[in-house]
Order: sequence, then structure tokens, then C-alpha cells
Amino acid sequence: MSDSASPLNEPAANKKPSANREQWSSRLVFILAATGSAVGLGNIWKFPYITGEFGGGAFVLIYLLCIASIGIPIMMAEIMLGRRGRHDPVTTMKKLAKESGHSRSWGLLGWMGVIAGFLILSYYSVIAGWAMAYVPRMAAGTFVGLDAEAVNSVFSTLVSSPETLIAWHTLFLFMTMSIVARGVRGGLEKAVTYLMPMLFVLLVILIFYAMDTGHFGQGLSYLFNPDFSKISTEGVLSAMGHAFFTLSLGMGAIMVYGSYLPDNTSIAKASISVAFMDTLVALLAGMIIFPIVFANSLEPGAGPGLIFKTLPLAFGQMNYGTFFGTLFFILLVFAAWTSSISLIEPAITWAMKTFQISRVKASVTSGMLVWFMGLFTVFSFNLASDVTISSVISTKYGEFVILKDATAFDFLDYLTSNIMLPLGGLMIAVYAGWLMKKEYSRDELSIGLWFPIWSVLVRYVAPVMVIIVFLNAMGVVAFVRSIMGV
Ligand code: TRP
Repeated sequence: MSDSASPLNEPAANKKPSANREQWSSRLVFILAATGSAVGLGNIWKFPYITGEFGGGAFVLIYLLCIASIGIPIMMAEIMLGRRGRHDPVTTMKKLAKESGHSRSWGLLGWMGVIAGFLILSYYSVIAGWAMAYVPRMAAGTFVGLDAEAVNSVFSTLVSSPETLIAWHTLFLFMTMSIVARGVRGGLEKAVTYLMPMLFVLLVILIFYAMDTGHFGQGLSYLFNPDFSKISTEGVLSAMGHAFFTLSLGMGAIMVYGSYLPDNTSIAKASISVAFMDTLVALLAGMIIFPIVFANSLEPGAGPGLIFKTLPLAFGQMNYGTFFGTLFFILLVFAAWTSSISLIEPAITWAMKTFQISRVKASVTSGMLVWFMGLFTVFSFNLASDVTISSVISTKYGEFVILKDATAFDFLDYLTSNIMLPLGGLMIAVYAGWLMKKEYSRDELSIGLWFPIWSVLVRYVAPVMVIIVFLNAMGVVAFVRSIMGV
């Protein structure tokens, strides 16, 4: 971008970041960091288990559609807003709203993101703790030669102990906050440059194992052969919610990463590469896990324990399984680590600015808050596993399951992935597509003839899809259809 094309009120902020405003050292590093944020438990732990819960192919197809038509355009919008604002999400939104002459209440979008990040990290850290707990178990050869039932009971024993879960949650959160306290750039660049590619190689090795199970075809057909009779309105909502979750969209994480992005980087290319790699990892994970599920007559809908019940079984049977298994869980923890950093980064940058405190202080305080919140998730799997809420609306047009026997963990996950992230994404799309001056977005994106396409996607396609899916899940669509007799 040339100087004259810099229409910011404070051109200095755009040309030369202030001393404490770091920038990524290159476009590649940004892509790696954004991929590090995107690829995490969402791909390897969550994608397979929700695919199993919602019946396979149809869910996967809707998820892929959402990535392409909502995810990529909104990711471009979010990075663009971040780079233009160059602040924490709250300040960025206020500043941009002012620049285009809109209400400062757009800062609320940043706020919702800060809260969503907190809530997600609180359970994310507990699940990452499970992955950590599997490292020593793998290394000790606990799973060698075990059958499905025995592998299952290792998992049940782990999650039934609140002390153990709290210990690992504490350790994981400590690891996350100590990186965040030092500033994301230094720690992150190395982790993403070497460890992410290693995780990828390991997944490819596991694919070969999956091909050997004799059930690879069945696994593929489960994933890629859509059976729309199996998909519920709740499944559609979850597929869309997961598209936001897995790309780290809708809460300002990618906005903050975008705020460190040098001006001359192509946002479109970066977004497409991140979305591509993220999707590839999720599909690989699915292609590994479902053949193992079918080969061992396991339940695809086993829930959040799915990968912990399937992968150790595979490692327990394969050559060098102890080595590969240990390495796998170590890399999974790293993948979770690079994601969790981005979950809390918006809150940290916001707290530093708002309370004028140091990064360290902001990190310690937020870490403690997240730790306490995490206890809800810890107890969801043991002491409080029977404390659940359900919200099912039955009407003469059908039954609408909003939540069924949801533990605190299920509730947090539903609230964040299915409501807060799509809502945040919707607001980002509306802001970037309708309210931001076209000359600004055109200048930031510099995608030439693609601009009108992006514009249609963020103005119409993404918002309309999000709204329809919301209304659908609330039963409104069925209601209208029955009235109109269609
Ligand atoms: N995308 C990450 C994963 O799939 C999780 C994550 C990191 C995230 N940062 C986020 C989700 C911001 C939503 C918003 O594991």
C-alpha cells in the first residue's frame, strides 16, 4: 500500500507501528501463526466426534460448504478489520466505526469476542489436559495389546478423577499463559514452523495404518457419502458453528493476528491457505478415526472421548506404536497450545490497553479467571456429570432440540460455537460488507476482479446463511413452511 493510499486518521499507526506493536516478520509467519491458531483440538478431537454424533456425510458436506461460503469470506473480513484497526478487537471496532462514521457500540463486537475467548479457553484447556495426560501413558506402553474395552476404561478412569483433570488443566493453562505473557510472536513462530509440519507428517503415517484396517472404505463412505435423512436442524447449526470454531473466527482472534500483519500481505491468499490446511487436517483426522471405529465395532457417536478411545487402540496394535503414539499426543498438545494462545490474546491486548497494565499482569489475572471457569468443565465429566439442562421446544410443527441433557461443558460449547461465534461472524460480515467504506475494503484486500465476488459473499451469502441456520435451529423455518404449506 502506498502512503497516499493510507486514508487512516492516524497514518503513523499504519505506516510505523508504535514501539509496543509487534509485527509478524513475514507473510509466511502470519500464515503459520493463523494456521497454528486454526489447527487444534477442533480438527483432531472435535471434528471427528461431532461428525460421529451427527451421523457422518451430510454433516461433513454442510461443514465444507460453510467453510467455503462463510468461513473464507469472513476470515478475509476479520483479518482486514484487524490490520486496518491495529489494536485489540474492542478498540479496533470502535476506531473503524468512527472512521466510517458509525456508532461506537461496534466495540461490543470486540467485547463479545473477549468473553467468547475466555469461555472457550476454559474448556479447551481441560481437553488439552486430557491430551497431555495421554503422553506419559503412551510412553509407558499402557495401551500395547489392549482391546477396545480396556482402552475405554483408561479414558473413563482419567475423566472420573477431578484431581487429575485439574492438575493437567493447570499445567496446560500455565504453559499457555507463560507464552502469552512474553508476547505471542517469539514463542509462536518456532512452534508453528517446526511442529505443525511434523503433526501433519504423523497424520499421513496414521492414514496408512487406517488403510490397513480393512475398513478404510467404510470410513470414507461414512465421511463422504451424505445421507440427509440423518441430519437434524441441530446438526446443521453445529456444522456451521464448527466452521467458525475450527477457523478461529468470529471472536477477534484472527483480528488480533491480522493487526500484526504487514501492510503488503495478500489477505485473500493467506485466508485461503489457512482454510485449506485446516480442512485438510480435519479430514485426515476423520479418515484415520472412522476406519478404526468400524474395525473395532466402536460407536461413532461416542462423544468427546472418541479420539481417546480409538487412537490408543491403533497405537497399541501398530509397529512402533509406543513411539508414534507418544509423539502424536505431544504434537496434539502443541497444536492445542498454538490455538489456545490465540483464544486469550484478544482479552490480553484489551486488558493491557484498558487497565494500562503490563502483559504479564494481564496474563496472570486472565489465567486465574480462566482456570476457575475451567472447573465447570472438569466437574462435567465426574462429580457433576448428572447436573444437566435440556431445552426442547415441542410444537405441532415438530420438536426442536436446543440442548439435550447438556452438562456445563456441553452448554459452554453450545453457547460459544453455535451462538457466539456465528453471531460475531455475522456482525463482522455486516460491518465489513455494508458499513465499511468500499474504498477502504477494496484498498485493504487488493484482490482486483475478485472484489465483487467477495463483496457478494460477505454482504449477502454469509449473513443470510447464518440467519437462516439460526432461524432453522429455533424452529422458525419449519413454522413458516407449515403455514405456507411447503
Ligand atoms: N480453531 C481452534 C481449533 O480448531 C480453536 C480456536 C483457537 C478458536 N482460537 C479460536 C476457536 C478463536 C474460536 C475462536 O482447535
